[in-house]
Amino acid sequence: MRNSKIEIRPSSGALGAEILGLDLATPLDTASVGTLKGALADHGVIFFRDQSLKPAEHIAFARNFGPININRFFKTDAAHPEIAEVRKEPDQAKNIGGNWHTDHSYDQIPALGSILLAREVPPRGGDTLFACMAKAFETLSPGLQRTLEGLRAVHSSRHVFGRPQYGREMNGRIGNPEAATQDAIHPVVIRHPDSGRKILFVNPGFTTHIDGWTEAESKGLLEMLYQHARRPDFQTRFQWREGSIAFWDNRATWHYAVNDYQGERRMMHRITVEGVALQ
Ligand code: SIN
Repeated sequence: MRNSKIEIRPSSGALGAEILGLDLATPLDTASVGTLKGALADHGVIFFRDQSLKPAEHIAFARNFGPININRFFKTDAAHPEIAEVRKEPDQAKNIGGNWHTDHSYDQIPALGSILLAREVPPRGGDTLFACMAKAFETLSPGLQRTLEGLRAVHSSRHVFGRPQYGREMNGRIGNPEAATQDAIHPVVIRHPDSGRKILFVNPGFTTHIDGWTEAESKGLLEMLYQHARRPDFQTRFQWREGSIAFWDNRATWHYAVNDYQGERRMMHRITVEGVALQ
């Protein structure tokens, strides 16, 4: 594939766009990187097809967007610690990311996003759903919006990566439970650093409670927000092929890896790019 004029083709649904005209294995010029940053801010997740990237090229592409986060929990590609393996083997029942979540919300400075490259995909199934958290916030009533803007929420990795049983369920693809010490407190509504949109920043995977409230008190409000944010009209769905890439903005989206391909192998390479402090 040769680089040509970049085309941004919005996906069906509330977010997402396919980017055409770029070969990501070649170094990108400043203008192209700027176009991709703009597309990510506008659409929340950008998709590429038919990319043939060696691990070093995947890493070089990611470095255009910031420093790389070396994952504390995932098994990494043996020669490239920057690349986390999101792998499910045919004999494995559960998958990584099979619930709505935002990666790294438990970090003090949550990651900007991840660049997931499909290395091996099942013959059918294994799609990923994405949901737009700006739309989720904008469609709440002004009264609830004001209330949420005064709240902060606690996010943790302990109840997920800190459970040794979770590592076993993932066939040992996830480990290091003793590193699950991160808790972070973030505003329930953040201002996106690039798009300037207000974003609902709580998620079912890692948010444990509203700061200053008990978990029991928080449950009702969080469940109501999650039910609202899961609406199909806030989503898009990506069907993978080998060589497909999804690059999502963690601050603006949730994602959900659908686990409907029992007995098949799915193997993805994920690079996570560091973010900036949230406001
Ligand atoms: C993830 O949650 O990072 C993995 C998403 C996927 O495998 O589709």
